Formats: sequence, structure tokens, C-alpha cells
Amino acid sequence: MGFITGNPPLTRPDATFAMPTEIKYGVGKVGNLTIELQLAPDLAERTRIAVFTDAGVAAAGLLDVVRQAFADSDYAIVAVIDDTPPESDAEFVKRAAAQLNEQEASLIVALGGGSVMDTSKIAAVIAAYGGEAGEYEGGFMVPGPITPIIAIPTTVGTGSEVTLAAVVKDQARRRKLTIASPFLFPRMAILDPNMVATLPAKLVAWTGFDALTHAIEAYSCVEREPISAALALGAIELIANNLEAAMREPGPTEARAKMQYAATMAAMAFSNSPVGAVHAIAHSVGALFGVHHGLSNAIALPFVMEFNLPAVAPHYAAIARAMGVAEDGTSAEAWAEAAIEAVRALKQRCGVPTQYREVGVPPDADTAAAVTDLTLEDICLSFNPVKGEREEILALVTRAL
Ligand SMILES: NC(=O)c1ccc[n+]([C@@H]2O[C@H](COP(=O)([O-])OP(=O)(O)OC[C@H]3O[C@@H](n4cnc5c(N)ncnc54)[C@H](O)[C@@H]3O)[C@@H](O)[C@H]2O)c1
Ligand SMILES: [Fe+2]
Repeated sequence: MGFITGNPPLTRPDATFAMPTEIKYGVGKVGNLTIELQLAPDLAERTRIAVFTDAGVAAAGLLDVVRQAFADSDYAIVAVIDDTPPESDAEFVKRAAAQLNEQEASLIVALGGGSVMDTSKIAAVIAAYGGEAGEYEGGFMVPGPITPIIAIPTTVGTGSEVTLAAVVKDQARRRKLTIASPFLFPRMAILDPNMVATLPAKLVAWTGFDALTHAIEAYSCVEREPISAALALGAIELIANNLEAAMREPGPTEARAKMQYAATMAAMAFSNSPVGAVHAIAHSVGALFGVHHGLSNAIALPFVMEFNLPAVAPHYAAIARAMGVAEDGTSAEAWAEAAIEAVRALKQRCGVPTQYREVGVPPDADTAAAVTDLTLEDICLSFNPVKGEREEILALVTRAL
């Protein structure tokens, strides 16, 4: 028995599943933000709002929706940080933190993709406890609560609206650092399809593949457990069924709404069953060459799946079923191969490149060595189902280049 998952054994004798963020869904929900705040006893009196966003999101008219939501209310927007850089920046978060303190902001609204949401998280940490982003790198380094964050995702990828993680690029040192702490969960996530209506098709694809990677890595990582696994499989099915339609048609469509749900569900999964080698490589290429996070994941994903296949064939078989691969009655290994083919085929239909050289990364030995060095340092690698010595990771990276 065990139609989709194959009823795998429990592998963790000890596990925690945490997800304290309240999730609100609805077309037009952002317009009614003050009602949502007033319904929450812990938020109602937090009337000094700092809004984080970036230039692209503001240009799409979404900042105006937030401004409008607070107009003629008891809430005051005391700061607007609308120039968040892509993938954030360790110096930028310090300046944003100073603004939060100067304006005595009591609530943060993070309107944007992962770059914006993560910037707001780390700025809130520095505003509360001082120092630099690097001092909080790793797990459980944030000492206590931060100003509550209302996260409004405008991409369909990172899921930062429900995660305990924040990633910031140290632009000067060309590396990305990940901060993970239970204090980084946003207080509330608002999934409003109007907020992804303007997302260009290419970014739907790239961020959608980030979500797919979260789900696949969470489902097959060394810390998998049944709650995360169920969310991951649900997300994979939603993405397989809706990514292309979401790309084709802009607007607050059902396909885009389902991609929003998928991104959030995949993130709930990986926040508890962490991502692995795809993210370790993607972070490294992203830090060195500025490749967008979702695109970078999409390129590495099938190569890492091939690398991991011997250890997780039954898991990939379940992924194949969730992606709608037709029953062929063969072995788990054959199903697993079919999952990798399904990922490759979806990439092709979405116009996503297959190797890093196609996006300007030089496929030479020095690049492979530099990416490998950073990959080996990345915390995500420790959750990958196959460990691999340096030479094996180098060979994997070389194939993806
Ligand atoms: N915290 C986490 O759990 C987590 C997980 C995965 C990735 N990340 C991080 O998130 C970052 C990437 O975030 P992202 O993929 O969401 O992209 P992003 O936030 O960098 O946004 C990409 C571009 O899309 C534009 N954009 C966003 N929404 C739009 C909209 N609705 N209409 C028009 N344009 C829009 C932005 O202006 C920007 O130019 C990376 O730094 C990555 O490391 C964080
Ligand atoms: Fe990601």
C-alpha cells in the first residue's frame, strides 16, 4: 500500500514542526490590511508602520496599494524603504535598521519578493540588537523577538513570508549568509493574488522553480518528517499543474493564486526539513555571478537530483507521481529517473536554461573550484541526502556549469 509516498519508514526519532505565522489569503486582502491588524489584539496598537519594498515592486503600483490601505486610518507610515537591492546587502540592512529606530517603527510591512522580506527581517534584528548581519549568521543566533513583520509576497518563490530564514548578500565579500532563527518567522503573511498579477512571466518561472526546489529538497532531505513531506508533495503537485498557466497569463488568475499557495506550502516544508545541495550551489553561483536565486536553483536542480538519486529513489518516485508522471509499473529507480525527466521537461517548457554557461557563468576550472569552495561552506549542504567529498562536489558543479 502507500499509493503516492510508498509509506516510507520514519527516519527521525526526534523532530519539531514550527510555523507560527498566520496566513491570510484573498484577492484584495492588502486593501483591507487595517481590518486584519485590528482583528489581531497584539497588532492593533502598533500604529507606526515601516514599509520595505523595492523599485520594481513600487513601479508595478503595489506600494500605492499599501499606502492606500493605511490612508485615513489610525496607522501612520513613518518610513518607506523602497530601494532594497536585489538579494539584499549587509550594509543596506544596517542603514534600514537605523531608520527603523529613528522613526520608532512598531510594525513592519514587507512588500516584495525574498530580497525585500529578508532585508526587513535582518534590519529588524539589527534594530533590536545592534551589530552586523554577519554576527547572526547560522542557526539560533538571534537573541530574542523583533518588531513584528506583516509579509506580503509579490513573487511565487522564496516563501520567506512563512520561514525562519533570511538570506543577505555580503556584496563586499561576494558571499551570501543565511540567518535562521525562530524569531524570524513573520507574524502574518498576506497572500493576495493582486500582488503577483504584475509579475513578469520570466520571474514567475524563476521564482516558481525556487518553490519547486524547496519542495523537492525538503521532501528528500536528511531531516524529512511527515508534516513537511505532505506540504512538499502538495506544493509539487500545485506547481506541476499551474506554473505554465501562471506564466502565460498575467493578472490575479487562479493559476497565479495556486502558485502563491505552493510557494508558501513549500516554504513551510523547508523551514522544518531544510534544503540541500541545490541551494548550496545556487547560493554560491548567485554570490559570485549575481545569477537570480530561483534561476540558479532551476539550473542546478536536475544535476543534484541525479547526484542524489541512489540515496532517495523512493522519494523521487513519489515526486514523479505528484508531478503527474503516468504509471508505468516499473521500479522505484525508473520512477525516480522519470521525476528528473519531468523536471527537465518542465524547465524546457518554461524556457529555463539548462547550464550556468547560458547565463554568463564561465565554465572553466577556476570557476568550478571557486563555486565548489563556497558550496562546501554553505550550511544547506549538511542537509543533503548524499554527502560527497570535495572531488564529487567539484564534478557535480562542473556538470552544471
Ligand atoms: N528567507 C527565505 O526563506 C528565502 C528562501 C529562498 C530564497 N531567499 C532569498 O530571496 C531572494 C530572492 O527573492 P525573489 O526570488 O522573490 O526575487 P526578488 O525579491 O529579488 O525580486 C526579483 C525582481 O522581481 C521584481 N518584482 C517582485 N515582485 C514583482 C511584481 N509583483 N511585479 C513586478 N515586479 C516584481 C523585483 O522588483 C525584483 O526586481 C534571494 O536573496 C534569496 O536568497 C530567501
Ligand atoms: Fe530558495
